[in-house]
Amino acid sequence: MHTNDSHSRTRRRLLGGLAGGPLLAGLPRLGLGAASVVPSPEAAPLTADQVLSVADFEALARAKLPPAHFGYLATGVDDDRTVFLNHDAYSRIEIRSRRFVDVSRLDTGRSIWGSQWKQPIYFSAVSGLRAFHPEAEVAVARAAASREFQMMLSAGASSPLPDVLAARKAPVWQQLYATDDWNVTEAIVHRAERAGCPAIALTVDSPPGRNSETLRRAMQHDDRVCTQCHVGGKHDMWLRAPLFAGIDVSHVTELAPASMSGNYLERVRKLVAVKFLVKGVVTGEDAAIAMHAGVDGIIVSNHGGRQEETLRSTIECLPEIVAAVDGRIPVFIDGGIRRGTDIFKALALGATAVGIGRPYAWGLTAFGQPGVEEIANILTRELRSIMRQAGTPDLASINKDHLTWPRF
Ligand SMILES: Cc1cc2nc3c(=O)[nH]c(=O)nc-3n(C[C@H](O)[C@H](O)[C@H](O)COP(=O)(O)O)c2cc1C
Repeated sequence: MHTNDSHSRTRRRLLGGLAGGPLLAGLPRLGLGAASVVPSPEAAPLTADQVLSVADFEALARAKLPPAHFGYLATGVDDDRTVFLNHDAYSRIEIRSRRFVDVSRLDTGRSIWGSQWKQPIYFSAVSGLRAFHPEAEVAVARAAASREFQMMLSAGASSPLPDVLAARKAPVWQQLYATDDWNVTEAIVHRAERAGCPAIALTVDSPPGRNSETLRRAMQHDDRVCTQCHVGGKHDMWLRAPLFAGIDVSHVTELAPASMSGNYLERVRKLVAVKFLVKGVVTGEDAAIAMHAGVDGIIVSNHGGRQEETLRSTIECLPEIVAAVDGRIPVFIDGGIRRGTDIFKALALGATAVGIGRPYAWGLTAFGQPGVEEIANILTRELRSIMRQAGTPDLASINKDHLTWPRF
């Protein structure tokens, strides 16, 4: 427990740093996000529980990482406007708090496909976490275990699935890039199912050729020799990920085929024996096609604004998908969630649960497992706080009447 005074001192130390050091001066795009400060290099080390908000972790991560690795984490495409809007759009939705409701007992739990979630938040797939911390996905899995968070493992994870499962001590969802070689797709699905993954999420928003300028700009500012980790062609790093180990990937030319259609979705549906989600849906029309193909869940996502510059935040997309799904299957959402109030708003607009990407990677970068745990603590605490304030004792009681919207 920290006193207000010690919090203030810590905060002053944190804010005492440069708002625009040489790194930021050279890389204006990397200033994206709510955090606009970086800790001063001489500041005393912080512990994770002294950091006040999710956004503050971004500044700490930026200060710790080499430019190219932070660039990989931060980047959107083109002008990074969709990354910004994903979060900013939440500030255009207001909450209508109700007072005369008994909120002495709060319940953030929800049953999804028969399993009980302690809170409606999960760690979404983020590839190559070893670029941010040596313990990578294993540290995230330990944090997910201690905070009872659901976790989706990236197909490009730097840790082997069995190690992650051992650390999580429970099943994790596996994210899938289809690849343009069906044999590889099949092998990955079978591998994940054999390992005990109860759900597979096919990412459908990643046709080749994104314009990650912020990443490329950051790489130009990084003078390290990177060939120790980055060797070979453009997919080499991915195809060397543990999930692909021992699988013949010599025929793969694209990780996410440009030819993905409704028929393709049906084909993958037949292949997947466990729960099948599609990740990256942003329209009601595509939600209907996915439903027709027989998916078990839809994830409203624009990959954290990393694929195309639509200028449509995911929260803006959510209502049309919720309408198309009409309660038949769970609808998840990710992108720009940084506050408990963001989670509340997504739930009120019909999301079953929300995913986070960059926030837990910031926590991991800054402190390893305790940083990820603190991200979970903050979001859960903030969600509980707004539930109490808004007069919603459980998730079922959160609905559109608690919002004024849309003002997109
Ligand atoms: C560095 C990074 C790597 C990612 N890697 C993957 C991935 O391998 N597969 C995938 O489906 N999504 C990936 N995503 C997208 C996340 O799963 C998620 O959709 C997104 O980060 C949510 O937005 P947020 O970062 O604003 O929370 C990645 C995101 C980031 C930031």
